[in-house]
Amino acid sequence: MTTTNFAPRKGMSEAEIASTVEDILAEASLTEKVAMMSGRGFFQDFADSGKKWGARPYRAGAGCERLGVPALWFTDGPRGVARGQSTCFPVTMARGAAWDRDLERRVGEAMAIEIRAQDCNLTGAVCINLLRHPGWGRAQETYGEDPFHVGELGAALATGIQTHNVLATVKHFAMNSIENARFKIDVRCDARTLREVYLAHFKRVLDAGCASVMSAYNKVNGEYCGQNRDLLTNILRHEWGFTGFVHSDWIRGVYEPYGAAAGLDIENPEPIHFGAKLVGAVKSGTIEPTVVDTACRRILRTLYRFAAAEDPLEEYPLALVASEAHRALAREAAEKSAVLLTNNATLPLAKTSKIALFGKLAALVNTGDHGSSRVDAPYVITPLQGIADYLGTPGLQISGDESDCKAASQAARDADAAIVVVGYTAKDEGEYIPGEVNLGQEQNVTRGPVARGGDRDRLRLPDEQIALIKAVAATNAKTIVVIIAGSAVIVEEWRANVGAILQTFYAGMEGGHALARLIYGDVSPSGKLPFSVARDESDYPFFDKNADSITYGPYHGYTLFDREQTEPAFAFGHGLSYASFTYRALRARRSASGIEAQISVRNDGAVQADEIVQLYIGFPGVTVERPKRLLRGFERISLKPGETRSVHFTIPDSDLCYWNEASATWVQETGEHSVMVGGSSRREDLKRVTITL
Ligand code: BGC
Repeated sequence: MTTTNFAPRKGMSEAEIASTVEDILAEASLTEKVAMMSGRGFFQDFADSGKKWGARPYRAGAGCERLGVPALWFTDGPRGVARGQSTCFPVTMARGAAWDRDLERRVGEAMAIEIRAQDCNLTGAVCINLLRHPGWGRAQETYGEDPFHVGELGAALATGIQTHNVLATVKHFAMNSIENARFKIDVRCDARTLREVYLAHFKRVLDAGCASVMSAYNKVNGEYCGQNRDLLTNILRHEWGFTGFVHSDWIRGVYEPYGAAAGLDIENPEPIHFGAKLVGAVKSGTIEPTVVDTACRRILRTLYRFAAAEDPLEEYPLALVASEAHRALAREAAEKSAVLLTNNATLPLAKTSKIALFGKLAALVNTGDHGSSRVDAPYVITPLQGIADYLGTPGLQISGDESDCKAASQAARDADAAIVVVGYTAKDEGEYIPGEVNLGQEQNVTRGPVARGGDRDRLRLPDEQIALIKAVAATNAKTIVVIIAGSAVIVEEWRANVGAILQTFYAGMEGGHALARLIYGDVSPSGKLPFSVARDESDYPFFDKNADSITYGPYHGYTLFDREQTEPAFAFGHGLSYASFTYRALRARRSASGIEAQISVRNDGAVQADEIVQLYIGFPGVTVERPKRLLRGFERISLKPGETRSVHFTIPDSDLCYWNEASATWVQETGEHSVMVGGSSRREDLKRVTITL
């Protein structure tokens, strides 16, 4: 046997990488190649680490010691690195509400630095499944309901991560947005809806260079995603030209060696259906040997490209994990992501006002899901701690909670303002880990972790929290409700009682400090909803967390509200500020490759504030029915009081097309298009001009 060492070297050219990979394929045996198509050692590590998910880096494919080929070492995201004691950022949905590509890229860089410092080179941080219904347990792990918005932010995160030569994985491909049924559900959908609504953001992230894809657990149109030829080969490779690799989701990601022929390159976390079964299938002629070579070529070329690239930092020491700079970034993200839903002359508070704080969640460490996205931060600033630190009153206590609404009502009477912290925890929403799962390690572990997480049972707050809000608001008109949740919460039954509502999501390890700075006006709220908040649950699409099969249609979120002419409680893109903004002089013109638009935005308020300028396109919709409008641009800008800025948008023709099922191509309509720009998707908030294409 050869002892040639094919280890990657910094500075290898594309040609050298290509020929090295061919040499490896020529040298490696079939068994060695197939071994590179699976993860390895996960079950043992999981058992050895007391069944703590993510306690160790997971070996997730590649690797051949005899030939010097390194392995892929995987760690989870997306609210930070799910290893060691890493920086816990606000959850993805919060960062979706920040609408800030640059912030997201910097968050990606920080994650990658912490990943490198903890010996991994592959991350599952880029989770971009579309939020179709707010009941979805993992809603917090994605950016929102709109494919354009989700794609832009996912691309920014992947770009930031890959800056430090960590391979980013975009997940879960595709249509994974019901949690409890994820291992069995068949999501059905027509070819147009699939491409325009449920895959467009994946394409955007892959076009930005994201190196790998994780297939979803569920089925799409009758076949499990991990062995779905239409998704993994026809669309991903043939239609989009993706050259990276695909690995499966973790416990039940693929069911047959056939998955390899369908386009899955790596089975994670262990060789169950690949490994010996795949070797057997190749030997018996059921699967072509070229399938194995093609998969290995994709894996190795991608891995070597990253391993050969120069690193931006000379070294990645452990001291960079949860560094001061990363904690400051976590606070910045929390400040930019809080959404001020209502404000009846209540916020900001004067520093001298006497406040009272209510609700069990005010004092709870609550950074979100306890599934694979869990981050074990070195510390977490709760709302109570954040306000105490801000006011310099270390002994600050909550003045009451859900267990005694009467007492809370009394306590609220004496305060100038009352802050009630409500919402959910990982018990109410998160990744669903069924109790009976044994992760395939029949001999070592007979039971997996206790069942936890899953889809929400309701979109309203728990009854006892509603009672607390009402009790406090009954004696204090300046009641501020802080909502901690992964997505939309229906607030109709109490919103009129309170002075202000601020949704902070799960705001990460620095969330409490950000909250204090927001409510006392050191910084203005600037987040905007990345989803629509309904008045009533029935305004959302049908959702059944136990369904075996479901059909996803072309409308959900604001496109559904528009089509049904239903008024949401809060529109997609809504979010108030301590400043106010005037939009004027909207112009749009046809350019050689799309639409150019510009608008002028002025801060008419008394404080510096950020605004998120949103651009929507209305289509002729003559040849085929189309949504009334679609988000096609956004920019976050910062304005001093009295300052005016012009904001420019370029909308390429490709963003104006629809998928024509008959010709199986993207087609652009001719005729009158509307260009709408403003501070939310609400018709009243948008300036509008038309342009004929
Ligand atoms: C989750 C993935 C995660 C993987 C590895 C799965 O159960 O669905 O999002 O990356 O576990 O932890």
